[in-house]
Amino acid sequence: MQRDIKNLLNPALRNIAVYKVEGGQQAEIKLNQNESPFDLPLWLKEEILGEFQREPWNRYPEILPYKGMKAYADFLGVSPDSVMMSNGSNEMLYTIFLACLGPGKKVLIPDPSFSLYEKIALLLQSQIISVPMHPGLDFDTEAILQAANDEKVDFIVLSTPNNPTSKSITIDEIRMIAGSADAIVLVDEAYIEFSRQRSALELIDELPNVIVLRTMSKALALAGIRIGFAISNPLLMAEISKPKIPFASGRLAEITLMHVLANYSLVSDMVSYILNQRDKIYGELLTINDIEVFSSDTNFLIIRVKDAVSVFRSLHNEGILVRNVSGYHLMENCLRFNIGLVEENQRLIDKLRTL
Ligand SMILES: Cc1ncc(COP(=O)(O)O)c(C=O)c1O
Repeated sequence: MQRDIKNLLNPALRNIAVYKVEGGQQAEIKLNQNESPFDLPLWLKEEILGEFQREPWNRYPEILPYKGMKAYADFLGVSPDSVMMSNGSNEMLYTIFLACLGPGKKVLIPDPSFSLYEKIALLLQSQIISVPMHPGLDFDTEAILQAANDEKVDFIVLSTPNNPTSKSITIDEIRMIAGSADAIVLVDEAYIEFSRQRSALELIDELPNVIVLRTMSKALALAGIRIGFAISNPLLMAEISKPKIPFASGRLAEITLMHVLANYSLVSDMVSYILNQRDKIYGELLTINDIEVFSSDTNFLIIRVKDAVSVFRSLHNEGILVRNVSGYHLMENCLRFNIGLVEENQRLIDKLRTL
């Protein structure tokens, strides 16, 4: 009997694809994944590895990394039962979506936004209510408020500052949305350390339906270690922790987190460097004819060129890897690149000028 294996699987798999990074993950100048260009200094890595070496590797870690969660809670000034750690914030997105969605549920996602939201919602067979950004890529708060109420959505996901647009929504707008919609509101603050806006953390005591998501992969320069966090009031946290994969964070992640928090001035210095460079590059891009540059609230910039595919290829041929984000709604012929080291940024700008 010839079986169609696909019929045996979750029907949602027909609508989603395997995650890919166009152009790959290797390049001389790698600016395509919004990472930090800085690695941790060797002395700090040695401190971390020394502690990790003394761990019993044959034993399970705690179900959740309670020490790391307490350290992060203290760092943020919230109670430890408001915080949950994950193996990267992507893993936490799966956990939170599992807790909030399922067949018959509706999720509001501004468009364009981080592609994983749509993918998990489709997997969970939930209905997606897409709300387009303004043509200049800013959030359309009026439209979000209207759609949330008209469609009676159960869940709203706001990435702010948003990937891939680099734009933010204000805390007052988030308060308005979370205050008026009968929905859980997830605020993904992956890039908050680079933002001019205040964090939505101050809303978690005020509004029972707000969850904040954080990652250590961007400003904290730990993409390879995989650390993410959810923060909400303890009641909601107790619920969203139910679908959490047990033992997902290893001891290396927890130890690394604690050492980096104890040396946070390193992070502040890296963020200042990146923000200085971002403003400098933004200014330089404004002077290049045929390039439109969008103001950014993140560690990356969006530019619009005449032909994104050909510019992407020309840069790639020079060893410079950026992300072609042209496929996103409203982002035709747009490229995204994160801020790198001074010399990397200069090479990118020089090349863009010649193109
Ligand atoms: C908006 C947003 N959320 C979440 C993530 C996932 O980050 P990680 O799983 O590395 O914590 C990213 C990564 O690019 C992102 O841009």
